[in-house]
Amino acid sequence: MQRFEAYLKANLPVVESFHPHYNNALSEMLLAGGKRFRPMLLLSVVDAYEPLLYEGALAPALAIEFLHTYSLIHDDLPSMDNADLRRGFPTLHTTYDEATAILAGDALNSEAFYHISKAPLRDDIKIKLVELLARDGGTYGMVLGQAIDLHFENQLLTLEQVKILHTNKTAKLIATSLLMGAIIVGLEKKKQDELYHFGLDLGLLFQIQDDIIDETQSDEEAGKTTGNDGDKNSFVNIIGLDKSIEEAEVLANNLEGRFKSFDKSLQKVLNPIIEQYLYRHR
Ligand code: IPE
Ligand code: IPE
Ligand code: MG
Ligand code: MG
Ligand code: MG
Repeated sequence: MQRFEAYLKANLPVVESFHPHYNNALSEMLLAGGKRFRPMLLLSVVDAYEPLLYEGALAPALAIEFLHTYSLIHDDLPSMDNADLRRGFPTLHTTYDEATAILAGDALNSEAFYHISKAPLRDDIKIKLVELLARDGGTYGMVLGQAIDLHFENQLLTLEQVKILHTNKTAKLIATSLLMGAIIVGLEKKKQDELYHFGLDLGLLFQIQDDIIDETQSDEEAGKTTGNDGDKNSFVNIIGLDKSIEEAEVLANNLEGRFKSFDKSLQKVLNPIIEQYLYRHR
């Protein structure tokens, strides 16, 4: 992970211009921290199967973190979740202004694909990575999820619909992080599918836990504005806190069982992440 942080710092967008804070605005939320959950998933798969490709995998891992960070910057905007705190720092639209935050998000979105295009990997692999990140982080995944999330504020969805919402806004990007790792190392289709479906359930769990955090943690503990889901179709609003924790527990147990059937090398490198995140709702 230290290698990823060093790579991120060395690859922040630095653009020459007479704009007073363009570069700072683009880098601020990346430097603010974050768990780096998604790049860790990609890099773990690569480390488990083809450690020699780790270096080449840093660019796509960074691309995922850029796209994810863009999604957070936009998620916090006044017209979306209207949040003041992110990764322990004031959100960009409060530090600068709304236009700057929108544009910083736009820049990180395109920067993600720029980095994949320049990665030291085979061209056919890079095209596949672009396809997957665009699909799951964009129109057919995260963006659709955010659209459903915001359109249906103050309108209760069914539990099944909320699972579809969470799968799109959060789980598909997490699943695709594992899949992109699998593509880089050339895993067979069956193992790709297995990892992707594991990632979808892991991502659903991750968002249920995030909904629980909104209810149970302070801004300081979470490093972001919490108590902010009042109008949302969060798990907590649909089935209540206790049932959400129960649902998370069932999903985590199921994932733990599936994890034990993974190749030993993959279990070994993924284990610290699984240990840290699978039961964070407890
Ligand atoms: C927050 O993502 C938004 C969700 C999709 C739940 P993370 O919880 O991964 O946020 P960072 O990257 O650690 O800040
Ligand atoms: C956001 O979900 C998911 C994204 C695609 C960014 P939330 O709105 O619940 O994320 P937080 O709680 O603000 O981090
Ligand atoms: Mg949101
Ligand atoms: Mg939010
Ligand atoms: Mg949330």
